[in-house]
Amino acid sequence: MEIKIVKDYQAVSELAASEIESLMNSKEEVVLGLATGSTPVGLYKELVKMYQQEKLDFSKTTTVNLDEYVGLKGSHPQSYRYFMNDLLFNHINIDLKNTHLPDGASENPQQAAVDYEEELSKLETIDLQILGIGTNGHIAFNEPDDRLSLSTHVVNLLPSTIEDNARFFESIDEVPKTAITMGVGSIMKAQRIIVLVSGKSKAPIVAQLMDDYVSTQLPASLLKFHPRVLLIIDEDAASLL
Ligand code: GLP
Repeated sequence: MEIKIVKDYQAVSELAASEIESLMNSKEEVVLGLATGSTPVGLYKELVKMYQQEKLDFSKTTTVNLDEYVGLKGSHPQSYRYFMNDLLFNHINIDLKNTHLPDGASENPQQAAVDYEEELSKLETIDLQILGIGTNGHIAFNEPDDRLSLSTHVVNLLPSTIEDNARFFESIDEVPKTAITMGVGSIMKAQRIIVLVSGKSKAPIVAQLMDDYVSTQLPASLLKFHPRVLLIIDEDAASLL
């Protein structure tokens, strides 16, 4: 894994945006893998700014998102569909038909997971996958476990994840207990992966990630097997290195 330590959150966002800009300038039809959570918000602000400055054109861009809560419709403010529309898609010239997320509102989430994997398999590739990392080391919603699924699946969220994400909901009881997530195999198929990490709360997991081991109990450690991973870390998240 290539590691870049930058000053702060803004620098993480700007560096990630410039990597996306270089990719989009080098290829006409790009498939971007996108993430939610608070970490990529600054990146999406930068992309919107670049679009407004006519530096980026998303008319031929396709996006795939990592995950979605089970039971939330796209109109729910805490759904990841709403998040993506609100923070990025509604502000750029992307065709919403080319933006893919698992269908969390499906009455049959298991089938929705299979359908999403099929949608992914129809794409030629994911050129660049953006990832955040959970304080417990999860990527997308692949929670630490004895074994991990390769393809898109329904997952039970761990109590630590429900607690971490409760800040977005009115109460912890409203946080969905399950989600549909791309598997580690689907994520690892991306040509390139950029992981964004910011803030002191991520310092312990970043420190763990730097040892010489991989473990399904630390799902982000599996990224060490991927040949093209860039970790962009701010000084706070790197403070225990
Ligand atoms: C959620 C998402 C992950 C994200 C993680 C970290 O659980 N499913 O994709 O990486 O949160 O979120 P944050 O960036 O808010 O710390």
